[in-house]
Amino acid sequence: MRIISVVGARPNFVKLAPVAHALAKRPGVEHLIVHTGQHYDALMSDSFFRELDIPAPSVNLEVGSASHAKQTAAVMERFEGTCVELKPDWVLVYGDVNSTVAAALVAVKLGIKVAHVEAGLRSYDRTMPEEHNRIVTDHLADLLLTPSRDAIATLKGEGVPEGRIQFVGNVMIDTLIRLRGRARGAAAKLGLPEQGFVLVTLHRPGNVDDPATLGVICDGLAGLAKDRPVVFPVHPRTRARLAETKGLGNVRLVDPVPYLEMLSLTESAALVVTDSGGVQEETTFLGVPCLTVRPNTERPITVKEGTNRLIEPGEIVEASTLALELSGSPGLRPGSGKARSAPAIERWDGRAGERIAEVLCDGKRFT
Ligand code: UD1
Repeated sequence: MRIISVVGARPNFVKLAPVAHALAKRPGVEHLIVHTGQHYDALMSDSFFRELDIPAPSVNLEVGSASHAKQTAAVMERFEGTCVELKPDWVLVYGDVNSTVAAALVAVKLGIKVAHVEAGLRSYDRTMPEEHNRIVTDHLADLLLTPSRDAIATLKGEGVPEGRIQFVGNVMIDTLIRLRGRARGAAAKLGLPEQGFVLVTLHRPGNVDDPATLGVICDGLAGLAKDRPVVFPVHPRTRARLAETKGLGNVRLVDPVPYLEMLSLTESAALVVTDSGGVQEETTFLGVPCLTVRPNTERPITVKEGTNRLIEPGEIVEASTLALELSGSPGLRPGSGKARSAPAIERWDGRAGERIAEVLCDGKRFT
């Protein structure tokens, strides 16, 4: 059996790793990786392949950055030739980025079966490009591999036949569990006290593309940084926009950090302020308080069962102060860190990649 995984952007790589490792153990399975080149900087791509022990891609489509239509079209045009040449039995696509929907559309039209890893997530926010990518990909795919039980109901509610849906669990958490032990010490390296700083990541167009919204966010972060260290690894999209704003006070801006450093920073933070999907899940798994600067989330389980809370851009200072008080992390005293309790979410257990291999190779069902 020949399986092609298509990945393009940073969060895809984290989801691919456990699937690649599980499939590598299967005799008779040839697993090839196609990198679309959507993310291409060393810090956004190469470092992830290295740290996560992902085999080198067999093909790089080198599409790079462009408008949504151009980027999606470039993946489609280039991936079609790859599919025709390699004739895979399955194409696996991950998450909700432009590369995901583009590859899925190419494969189904060539009669190749498509499996969507991280299926069934919905924000119900039609202004998010990812929401369209999720919906279209789920309705193209032959096999929908969901990270949480609520996604099954969502898909059934949209008319997806039950036989196509399998509840395999959360692959991103597989990677976290595997590498957690190796990811210590990043905070100390940056001189940040354990559980004594706030970690920030923001890159959504809804937050960073509109100067007025970004201005409100910058004011909030600068206010927060008056009383405690705030560290902000900056995504290239955000970096370009920040250059046009009035500044961030004492906030410490750093380049995008590799996976292990990000995991270590997340685990050591008193609080995380983000708009990333993956970070909402990682903080929930680790029991780290998280404020998500978005009006909605496609991962409601992190709010219902986890540590996540949705806030508006203007609420950053007030919500952070409250979250720090409630969590008992004063955010100021070095060494004040304490053990955290984290919720146990069903099938966020480090075995999702194995389950995907069992579905594809052994015909197992996970309901
Ligand atoms: C993409 C995904 C988003 C995901 C994010 C993770 C879509 C629609 N969006 O958003 O869902 O959360 O990845 O990071 O697919 N750039 C670089 N170097 C790179 C990559 C990008 O400098 O290696 C810059 C370019 O100026 C580019 C901008 O970042 O225009 C945005 O990149 P793009 O891939 O279009 O979307 P992201 O914002 O990264």
